[in-house]
Amino acid sequence: MKSEKIKVLIGEKDVNEKISKIAEMISEKYAGKSIHLICVLKGGVFFMCELAKRITVDVSMDFMAVSSYGDGTESSGSIKIIKDLDETIEDKDVLIVEDIIDSGRTLKKLTELLWQRNPKSIEICTLLDKPDRRVVDVEVQYKCFEIPDEFVVGYGLDYAQKYRNLPYIGVVEVEK
Ligand code: IMP
Ligand code: MG
Repeated sequence: MKSEKIKVLIGEKDVNEKISKIAEMISEKYAGKSIHLICVLKGGVFFMCELAKRITVDVSMDFMAVSSYGDGTESSGSIKIIKDLDETIEDKDVLIVEDIIDSGRTLKKLTELLWQRNPKSIEICTLLDKPDRRVVDVEVQYKCFEIPDEFVVGYGLDYAQKYRNLPYIGVVEVEK
């Protein structure tokens, strides 16, 4: 039977420290305003909570789940809304909170879709970025870590729905 081992890529302390720094940048940028955080489920949920706890301006939060049509491993150009937002984003300063940007297709489509709902602004904050994998351009204002092209888990990210609860970012190693 195959067993999996998780190799730590970014430890818990480093992740938390970086989130604090990004939260500080966001708090400065939005000083005097409030931010409407949109979490992309499920992967973004741990990051969004940790980020929101450290932001010092007023925040409101909403959640959205999307899936990309495709063969399962590569995301395709179109997305399907699995769970839509509960509230309007009209005239709000929106910050999309993502776990990881890979090809960039999901975020590009999501951003296009959200702009149709007349927010005041949209910015993007991601925990991880795999720049080597980018297929479409997306402008990302806040990112915690750039990582190499490896499949990672933890801090919200899953491998077949497992490992989301790990408090660090790890790489899955399958042993035969
Ligand atoms: P994109 O449309 O290719 O940018 O897809 C990004 C989505 O793919 C992320 O939000 C994750 O759900 C998933 N994903 C991409 N890379 C990884 C990874 O290394 N681990 C876990 N999920 C990943
Ligand atoms: Mg995601």
